[in-house]
Amino acid sequence: MGKVFVIGIGPGGEDYMTPAAREGIMSSDVIIGYKTYIDLIRPILGDKRVIDSGMKREIERCSLAIDLAEEGHTVALVSSGDPGIYGMAGAVLEVKGEKNSPIEIEVIPGVTAVSAAAAVLGAPLMHDFAVISLSDLLTDWDVIKKRLQLGAEGDFVIALYNPKSKGRVTQIEEARDIMLQHRKKETPVGIVRNAKRRGEEVIITTLGEMLNHSIDMLTMVIIGNSNSFIQDGKIITPRGYHL
Ligand SMILES: C[S@@+](CC[C@H](N)C(=O)[O-])C[C@H]1O[C@@H](n2cnc3c(N)ncnc32)[C@H](O)[C@@H]1O
Repeated sequence: MGKVFVIGIGPGGEDYMTPAAREGIMSSDVIIGYKTYIDLIRPILGDKRVIDSGMKREIERCSLAIDLAEEGHTVALVSSGDPGIYGMAGAVLEVKGEKNSPIEIEVIPGVTAVSAAAAVLGAPLMHDFAVISLSDLLTDWDVIKKRLQLGAEGDFVIALYNPKSKGRVTQIEEARDIMLQHRKKETPVGIVRNAKRRGEEVIITTLGEMLNHSIDMLTMVIIGNSNSFIQDGKIITPRGYHL
């Protein structure tokens, strides 16, 4: 009986992949993942069997990983960032249950986009924060709006995954409007594209101005709380120390 590793490869830069993730990949003989992620780790794959597939085939990928493990293979199912954060870990465990499969599944965490982006911006997550995905492909927009509303009311720093895509452009505008009902337009906002990987771009702006900047699916948006401030080009959310 083989095994499935569900591996977070981090944000993309080679230095940000953990030794455990690298080891999991090295000890696997089949690597499965979305093509973009496979391409990020291609240099360390050597002549391993690689199965890459399109974005919307997550369940097939999980099912295939389990079938191959049952045949005796050690399989690495790779996700960007952390596989347990909008990644593949949940789906593969659900599919294992569905198939009633006895194979072992080991989840290896990775540096998730919000940590990578926060590091680029300075220290915006030093106090309570909420992570919200603006993708309404699998979640009703009303539910997402409610979470934005409550996060804004609770004065959480808000980190937005999947902020905008080619076909999904109004959600970020609505999210900004909800935030503005509870926060000043001067509230610091960080927009990081390709955090900790090739092509990194950083913008530090405000809630009032954030929509004047380019935001897409390779971007993470972090909106400060009522105490966040900008200093020397970095966003800081104070922890509350008395300096
Ligand atoms: C489906 S989620 C996957 C998240 C991933 N499992 C993680 O832990 O980072 C994809 C979204 O994560 C964000 N993202 C992932 N990697 C990023 C990076 N290096 N820089 C900025 N945003 C990133 C973007 O918002 C993107 O639309």
